[in-house]
Amino acid sequence: MTEANNGAPRELGVALLGMGNVGAEVVRIITENADDLRERIGASLVIRGIAVRDASRDRGVPRELLTTDPGALVRRDDVDIIIEVLGGIEPPRELIRTALEQGKSVVTANKALLAEYTGELAKAAAEANVDLYFEAAVAGAIPVVRPLMQSLAGDKVQRVAGIVNGTTNFILSAMDADGDDYDTVLAEAGRLGYAEADPTADVEGYDAASKAAILASIAFHTRVTAADVYREGITKVTAADLAAARKFDCTIKLLSICERVAGPDGAESVSARVYPALIPLSHPLATVNGAYNAVVVEAENAGRLMFYGQGAGGAPTASAVMGDVVMAARNKVHAGRGPLESTYASLPVIAIKDVPTRYYVAMNVLDRPGVLEGVAGEFAKHDVSIAAVRQEGDGEQTRLVVITHRAPDGALAQTVAALESMEAVTAVSSVLRMEGTDD
Ligand code: NDP
Ligand code: HSE
Repeated sequence: MTEANNGAPRELGVALLGMGNVGAEVVRIITENADDLRERIGASLVIRGIAVRDASRDRGVPRELLTTDPGALVRRDDVDIIIEVLGGIEPPRELIRTALEQGKSVVTANKALLAEYTGELAKAAAEANVDLYFEAAVAGAIPVVRPLMQSLAGDKVQRVAGIVNGTTNFILSAMDADGDDYDTVLAEAGRLGYAEADPTADVEGYDAASKAAILASIAFHTRVTAADVYREGITKVTAADLAAARKFDCTIKLLSICERVAGPDGAESVSARVYPALIPLSHPLATVNGAYNAVVVEAENAGRLMFYGQGAGGAPTASAVMGDVVMAARNKVHAGRGPLESTYASLPVIAIKDVPTRYYVAMNVLDRPGVLEGVAGEFAKHDVSIAAVRQEGDGEQTRLVVITHRAPDGALAQTVAALESMEAVTAVSSVLRMEGTDD
């Protein structure tokens, strides 16, 4: 930190860990907007170094800024703020902890890390009286972390639900619009650069579950980790499911849902879950298509708020990173700090079996008299109430789709097991949940 005569810093040193999709855009913004940023902060941001794996590649920055030793970079005395956009758990965890312990503020976009280790990192930040900011970790450019942490700090948040993974939303939207199957659209998502070479974290819901853990922790003042989040991905959703959903005036979205609920013992609890679900076409999230994200927050006094925008991509994510950098830099200039982690409520997180939802069950059945009655009987036997039934196709085999009223997970699982053992049911092809309805 270079100081002016009054003791306030004239320059703040920034170390960038990673110069990939997001990091390259962060460098561009810091360089192109240097004058405006200086005015907004009250000091200049100066990039001291950039850690990458391959320092020999030309990246359009002075070669001497590049290093393959992020550990040495975070320890430099002339660095005040660390921007971590490497990805993965290690080395970011160790690097961030070291930086915080050395009194440097940290901005990170790393949801996988935060979903596991916010506790220890927030503790290190509090002990060193510095900032740990992570707006970019959830829903890219969309401001949702700061609204939950600060704007709604005086309210009681009841629910945070949304589409927080762009890759899966692109896939489901394209399957819905074009009737293409999952594998065809996944390949297209790869060609367009939405899906990673290994798309597992996106399509199996791990990325969305990390974001749900971060959102639930902030919204409910409770530490929720990725392991607490129930998770299902989209790999089993078929074009036939999307077509069937349309017949019920619904579409299918991968939802992250964080709710304040009553637990099985009646105690105030938290549910955090990620799964593909049918939602009515009239629901605000149904219109969120392509790689876009949206988050709906419901708070006791504010009512319903919706946040919508680009949830991924270099420039949108760098926008959120830079918002945090400006905040952390202002705090350095004014010797202040942002809010600490708040976990005072420590609510229990309930298991999925205790969360009643509506279901969509699709099965292939023999088309003969009494089959529908037998199927309905299994639902009734397990106390699962049917809301709607639709039969598609004819011939020897037909597809039967059942929508239920709310039922506990356990009752539905028993129903499905019973259906699978029926001679007239050749396969239960899909079991999905239904959200966004009042009943
Ligand atoms: P990239 O893979 O594009 O970039 C990663 C960068 O980190 C590269 O520059 C790479 O170096 C460098 N790097 C990785 N490991 C090391 C290491 N051990 N030592 C030194 N440098 C290393 O990732 P993204 O920019 O896409 O993502 C970065 C972070 O932002 C992740 O946590 C991601 O989850 C998060 N994020 C990304 C979004 C996006 O849309 N891309 C959206 C929201 C969050 P090299 O260039 O030499 O390979
Ligand atoms: N893979 C993520 C997505 C990037 O598809 O949304 C943003 O976190």
